[in-house]
Amino acid sequence: MPKTLIIYATKYGTTQTCATMLQKLLNEGADLQNLKQKRTVNLDDYDTVVLGGAVYAGRASTKLRKFCSANEQVLLTKKLGLFLCMMEEGEGAIKQLKQCYSQALREKAVVMDYFGGEFLFSKMGWVARKMIKMMSKGDEDVHHIREDAIKAFAEVLNR
Ligand SMILES: Cc1cc2nc3c(=O)[nH]c(=O)nc-3n(C[C@H](O)[C@H](O)[C@H](O)COP(=O)(O)O)c2cc1C
Repeated sequence: MPKTLIIYATKYGTTQTCATMLQKLLNEGADLQNLKQKRTVNLDDYDTVVLGGAVYAGRASTKLRKFCSANEQVLLTKKLGLFLCMMEEGEGAIKQLKQCYSQALREKAVVMDYFGGEFLFSKMGWVARKMIKMMSKGDEDVHHIREDAIKAFAEVLNR
């Protein structure tokens, strides 16, 4: 049984795609846990925990933030990795990471990064579709997953 657990929250599937990409890059494998399917997780079996979610309208996934605050003390005893999916880059992305993950979790993390994001119109409801169409000035799906960042993240965890 793998000693790493990747826990994630996703609305449209991209965080799951990134979590699965990361899982495949980890030398000793990892279990995956979607917070939508199961909100309570037994962390005792794992030495390493990776947390992931995405940003919507300037805020990171509520499910993920709730999970982090409810489990912070246990998470602080683990080897930790933190990521977020979003379209923002650079300073904006760093700001989102800081808003989502507490200072304690960020200081404990051995690795933290943003993995880019996607606009998948067929998976959006009509409000989101309308909003994103206006923002991205089109209705073509956008794929911007930062594969290099996922590889670098995995390399740190594999050390
Ligand atoms: C309704 C909506 C709002 C979004 N708002 C933001 C945002 O404020 N900042 C950002 O960087 N990305 C934003 N995004 C991009 C998402 O973070 C990106 O689509 C991500 O891949 C979604 O992850 P998920 O598929 O795991 O839910 C938004 C996407 C949608 C659909």
